[in-house]
Amino acid sequence: MTTTNTHKTRRTFAIISHPDAGKTTLTEKLLLFGGAIHLAGDVKAKGDRRRAHSDWMKIEQARGISVTTSVMTFEYDGCTFNLLDTPGHEDFSDDTYRTLTAVDSAVMVIDAAKGIEAQTQKLFEVCRLRDVPIMTFVNKMDRETRDPFELMDEITEKLALDVTPMTWPVDQGKQFQGCYDLRKDQMILFGDAKKEKKGSLPGILPCQGTDDAKLKEILSDDQHAKLVEDVEMVKGLCPEFDLESYREGHLSPVYFGSALKDFGVQDLLDGIKEFAPSPRPQETESREVNPDEPKVSGFVFKVQANMDPNHRDRIAFMRICSGTFKRGMKLLNTASAKTLSISNPIFFFSQGRELADDAVAGDIIGIPNHGTIRVGDTLSEGEKIMFTGIPDFAPEILRRVRLGDPMKAKHLERALHSLAEEGVTQVFRPMLGSDWIVGVVGTLQLDVLKDRLDAEYNLEVDFEATQYITARWVSASGEKANDNLKKFIDSNRASLGEDRDKTPVYLARNNWDLDRAQSDYKEIKFSEVRERGR
Ligand code: G4P
Repeated sequence: MTTTNTHKTRRTFAIISHPDAGKTTLTEKLLLFGGAIHLAGDVKAKGDRRRAHSDWMKIEQARGISVTTSVMTFEYDGCTFNLLDTPGHEDFSDDTYRTLTAVDSAVMVIDAAKGIEAQTQKLFEVCRLRDVPIMTFVNKMDRETRDPFELMDEITEKLALDVTPMTWPVDQGKQFQGCYDLRKDQMILFGDAKKEKKGSLPGILPCQGTDDAKLKEILSDDQHAKLVEDVEMVKGLCPEFDLESYREGHLSPVYFGSALKDFGVQDLLDGIKEFAPSPRPQETESREVNPDEPKVSGFVFKVQANMDPNHRDRIAFMRICSGTFKRGMKLLNTASAKTLSISNPIFFFSQGRELADDAVAGDIIGIPNHGTIRVGDTLSEGEKIMFTGIPDFAPEILRRVRLGDPMKAKHLERALHSLAEEGVTQVFRPMLGSDWIVGVVGTLQLDVLKDRLDAEYNLEVDFEATQYITARWVSASGEKANDNLKKFIDSNRASLGEDRDKTPVYLARNNWDLDRAQSDYKEIKFSEVRERGR
């Protein structure tokens, strides 16, 4: 890395949005500004192909593409930006949630014609769980849009989030003139509008407030009058920008722009650099780990296997939480109690991978391994700590796996475990019976699972409906925890299974069953989310 190697210069973030809001286009433009790519089109091509289910799977199989875009590192103005990709398809997977546990902030992209859409809201809720600070980018201002005030209201109401516009648009669609920068008091002219005026106007016009004569020259009377009125209203209605409130996740600074037309992207990038937090302290089961600590620690939020079908390799994505990692270091995996020598760690640039010689808190390194590292694992320089917070979510779709060739049962078991460790699926084994049950959050995950079992493990499977609607992890605490749990298990074997770590799960046939079990066994906890280590 070329910038100063301190975690203070790191901005590790994700973009959250509903499909089609412009995440891919914005990503591409951010990378262009960061000099990470020179050809527009790299990322876009992926966005296009990703839309079709079958094509999306092809990409999943062509591991290279999927992985180089899982994390993209670029530099801009003395900072290193680590952009983590949250899958953009409509189906949700646990992977998306886990990726969001590895970022320090997020950018929420909203289509100016549509406002807050379902997927944006879901992803926002996940960010809120961890108080991840959010910047908002209102995209597609070069098209017909909704009224910006209406959009601000919608964010405030639907997400219960305060907003502070950092820029304010002047007109929209074909008439879009650019934005007034409310903090710096300057007009940022939109390229197309500038071209139309044919003058040699600079891109940015410093102003003495909205009454500035320069503004009257370049805007129509109506546009100018509206800008004056709007800015007054914004100042009256929206709270002033407050860094602390943003960093605590209560307030979102808002930028307007057009990713497609390169407008507003630099303002956003400058905003991330200036306001977004550098790596934050992270919780472990025993103590908080500060990024300033000298010893290396980190957690694995994603594992991707079989990136190269010729080698059964796996890459574990580790977010560094403290210390300065050096290539060749030996790190302890708390969960397995094994010490691993990290000799070939990699960084992910959009052009490809590079050997990682050193990395600091906030950086993501890829660690090739043969199944010794799992999602949720903590690696450290010897201290037995366990980062908390990487969740498994109760699956909403449970299917029984039917194997084409029954002779391959052992092989299936290994494949399912391996894919479960990657987070592609969850696996359960009913306490009575020998079939495997897979659990997923969205149906697309089932297609991917079937496809990968076939392509990578040579296993033909089908999925059959089960009588189960969801699963809950069961546990007990307190003095008689073991007795209570045993009693519950003994009386409910037919409705119980175990997950891949042999943790008991209640497989519910319907909500009524679940409610009854919960009221009959008050001493048992039924959890929708399971945090394994993290
Ligand atoms: P996604 O990753 O969030 O799914 O969105 P993506 O960037 O792929 O953008 C979805 C569509 O919106 C694309 O159009 C893209 O060109 C367009 N788009 C993105 N940002 C802007 C913007 O600022 N202004 C305008 N006018 N359009 C924008 P498409 O027709 O689906 O693809 P393409 O044929 O343009 O490539």
